[in-house]
Amino acid sequence: MESGGIHHLGVAVTDLEAAVRTYETLFGATVEHRDVVEEQGVEAVSVLVGGSRIELLAPTHADTPVGRFLAKRGPGMHHVAYAVESVADELGRLSAHGVELIDAKPRRGLYGLQVAFVHPESVHGVLTELVSNEH
Ligand code: CO
Repeated sequence: MESGGIHHLGVAVTDLEAAVRTYETLFGATVEHRDVVEEQGVEAVSVLVGGSRIELLAPTHADTPVGRFLAKRGPGMHHVAYAVESVADELGRLSAHGVELIDAKPRRGLYGLQVAFVHPESVHGVLTELVSNEH
């Protein structure tokens, strides 16, 4: 993968405001962005801890991917996102390796970034996101 490293770690939470306060208090995090993607049923705050980014995710309602994740597994680590030059190119490359993709094409993610998700079955149980800064 032409990866620029880890772009962020995604963490599913039930109480977004409480989670932001926790990261501020415990780790000196600063809020970078806040966004709602209604079609994904998710409200998110990205926080920076030093040079690293954590994406705190809360569902807008129960019947959403993050809502179902919380119901099944409770709050915790949700996904790892890698920065790539081109999400479309990476999807093509991964699918040529037989990787199971959740998103066959890039779509709009949080904060206007282009993203796509790779199925955890193809990454040893880790839901994996590709992120590019192309709009
Ligand atoms: Co993410």
